[in-house]
Amino acid sequence: MSDDVILRPAGPVEAAVMAALQQACFPDDPWDAASIATLAGQAGSFAVLALAGEEPVGFVLARVAAEDGEIIAIGVLPNARRGGVGRRLVAAARDGAGRLGATALFLEVAEDNDAARYLYKSCGFFPVGRRPGYYKRPEGRVAALVLRYSYADE
Ligand SMILES: CC(C)(COP(=O)(O)OP(=O)(O)OC[C@H]1O[C@@H](n2cnc3c(N)ncnc32)[C@H](O)[C@@H]1OP(=O)(O)O)[C@@H](O)C(=O)NCCC(=O)NCCS
Repeated sequence: MSDDVILRPAGPVEAAVMAALQQACFPDDPWDAASIATLAGQAGSFAVLALAGEEPVGFVLARVAAEDGEIIAIGVLPNARRGGVGRRLVAAARDGAGRLGATALFLEVAEDNDAARYLYKSCGFFPVGRRPGYYKRPEGRVAALVLRYSYADE
């Protein structure tokens, strides 16, 4: 599956596409295209789209400030999951942030998001913090784990 998917850089012009992907991947936390366009257009920000043919199936939005990189958002459409696209998007964020001077890459993940936690663990991220009650869920609040990837460990 992942071999048929290509990754290409994206920017504010693709904000509506990324907003649709964000909504499909995070129905409880949709972002509008204007917010994504603002984030993607900031200095140090970059985005990558995953395309199956012409069809967008995933994206990652990241940024670098000073030497710290951050994955702001990442998602793969449900019917395109478990084919390696998420892993490739994490690698694209890691490589892109590294090129922009990051020495570490951070992200936040909900403690109950097993798929993402397994993905990040397999990509070399380690927990460095925990924010109780960070995410709202219909059934209550869930903590965020702060994960870090260090380029020095490569
Ligand atoms: C997390 C997400 C991006 C993973 O994308 P994906 O394309 O399915 O990931 P991959 O196929 O590259 O999986 C890579 C590894 O992650 C782990 N993984 C991914 N999904 C998993 C699942 N449902 N259960 C267990 N492990 C999982 C596995 O270790 C997998 O490797 P393997 O397939 O060789 O076992 C996707 O599930 C998603 O978009 N979820 C909703 C949005 C989200 O939670 N984003 C992250 C917020 S921090």
